[in-house]
Amino acid sequence: MVVSIEVDCVTKEFDRHFQRTLKQVTVAKLRGQETKKSFLALKDVSFTVEQGEAIGLMGLNGSGKSTLLKHVMGVMRPTSGQVRTRGRVSGLIATGAGFHPQMTGRENIFMNAAILGMTKSETEAKFDDIAGFADVGEAMDTPVGNYSSGMFARLGFAVAVHVDCDVFIADEVLAVGDQPFKKKCMKKMEQVRDSGVTLFYVSHAAQSVRKMCSRVIVLEKGVVGFDGDVNAGIKYLHYDDSDDVDPEDEQSTDAELGSDV
Ligand SMILES: Nc1ncnc2c1ncn2[C@@H]1O[C@H](COP(=O)(O)OP(=O)(O)O)[C@@H](O)[C@H]1O
Ligand SMILES: [Mg+2]
Repeated sequence: MVVSIEVDCVTKEFDRHFQRTLKQVTVAKLRGQETKKSFLALKDVSFTVEQGEAIGLMGLNGSGKSTLLKHVMGVMRPTSGQVRTRGRVSGLIATGAGFHPQMTGRENIFMNAAILGMTKSETEAKFDDIAGFADVGEAMDTPVGNYSSGMFARLGFAVAVHVDCDVFIADEVLAVGDQPFKKKCMKKMEQVRDSGVTLFYVSHAAQSVRKMCSRVIVLEKGVVGFDGDVNAGIKYLHYDDSDDVDPEDEQSTDAELGSDV
């Protein structure tokens, strides 16, 4: 078995700043008030992922999921501990990140692909596939600043999923897409997973995690609260109030995908 991701005792400390301007900070300091407070967004997080595993990363808002994935993507460094990944990492964290509002969809595809490690000729060769998947129509040649959040997600997902990678990260990307797009993304991610890519999937939808993942990691206030079997993980979170729903039932999956993800 090949190790794909190794997260070793990772701790991340952030500062919460209570003032925004230098003037406000100065006034607060003169008054003897607190100007910032540090807290740990990740506390001693450790786990190992083998190549080809599909991990459902779950947990409440603010539990540290996106922060952890930023470490896996290599855009953030831990305060202490280490993250090692094997191969190219692609995917998207928070919709719209990495896009420039004044550039067109077309220009952003090239820029975003470059950020994810694709060469210009590689992107040119895949452009039609990417544009076809994003399916934003005439909006492709207009600035993305005017896009709806769903269109943003389409473009971001389309680029990320066309990068040849060893690890694919999908952080709540489907939350804003419409139902046909969600279905298309799920299908594409299943293909990516089945081709042996390691998948990190963040979702609040138990049904789609069941469909997609072979293991669940639950974060609770920056700590790994659970790591193991998918159904046990969902039970651990009490996300599954619909025990009577058959996970294989296509319609219930669709219903859930159509609601909130
Ligand atoms: N750059 C940052 N500076 C300060 N605090 C941050 C920063 N990024 C995230 N946080 C905080 O870290 C915590 C975890 O955030 P996040 O990883 O985005 O959670 P999740 O993705 O699970 O909803 C939250 O309390 C959030 O406010
Ligand atoms: Mg998040």
